[in-house]
Amino acid sequence: MTPRVIRDLAEWRKLRSEWPGRTIGFVPTMGALHEGHASLLRRAREENEVVVLSIYVNPTQFNDPKDLEAYPATLDQDVAVATREGVDVVLTPTYPQIYPDGFRYRVTENQLANELEGAHRPGHFDGVLTVVLKLLNLVRPTRAYFGEKDHQQLSLVKGMAEAFFLETEIVPCATLRENDGLAMSSRNVKLSRDARELAPRFAAALFEAPTATEARMRLAKEGFEVDYVEDVANRRYGAVRIGGVRLIDNVTR
Ligand code: PAJ
Repeated sequence: MTPRVIRDLAEWRKLRSEWPGRTIGFVPTMGALHEGHASLLRRAREENEVVVLSIYVNPTQFNDPKDLEAYPATLDQDVAVATREGVDVVLTPTYPQIYPDGFRYRVTENQLANELEGAHRPGHFDGVLTVVLKLLNLVRPTRAYFGEKDHQQLSLVKGMAEAFFLETEIVPCATLRENDGLAMSSRNVKLSRDARELAPRFAAALFEAPTATEARMRLAKEGFEVDYVEDVANRRYGAVRIGGVRLIDNVTR
């Protein structure tokens, strides 16, 4: 069955009100779906009666307007993936519907959000947390699924859910990788052939280098522009750029 694609939030609210007692699994995304997203949908399908996927390219989390403009949009293919994974509803709201306040109201976390990704993308996590809170309030899911691929985002969303007493369970899902180790990402399609060939060296350095400093040196030597590689607790986080594409990843140590 093809899922119901809903753009209008009034229509969504009406449908949501028809499911008072059902378990709802929710997977928020920005579209350009790949196997990583599909693995979250599969988990949601296994664990809930209803599965809702949102596709919303959230402008407030893009600190670089060029990055927002270049973000891949593939709705027809995304609906095909949603169909294959048994999704019931695809929500594709518009900016005026999500931000009737014009982003005057926002969620700010004052510690972790300024580190790692946050240190390199000012305001990024305000945008992420704000849109996730809006979506969780609109969908009111039993469980919401987030990838470890964006581990800092996952930690912040979990923290927000606790801080604001949200009733949704935040479910972490393992990072899916290509056979050569590159973490799957919507941005990978933007890599030139040369950059795609080099890209797996990023994950390899995170996994293999004995220290974060050595990983940084190794990546710079191999031709990456390194934003950061840092070890925090039992995890190593990194972000690099190759040929104009920014990649992030993290691994356990
Ligand atoms: P997006 O990058 O589309 O990712 C949607 C979800 O898929 C996130 O939870 C992300 O961690 C997960 N994901 C992406 N690549 C993955 C991979 N290779 N393996 C496993 N999971 C993967 O993250 C966002 O969108 C946005 O910030 C969003 C939460 C939707 C808020 O706008």
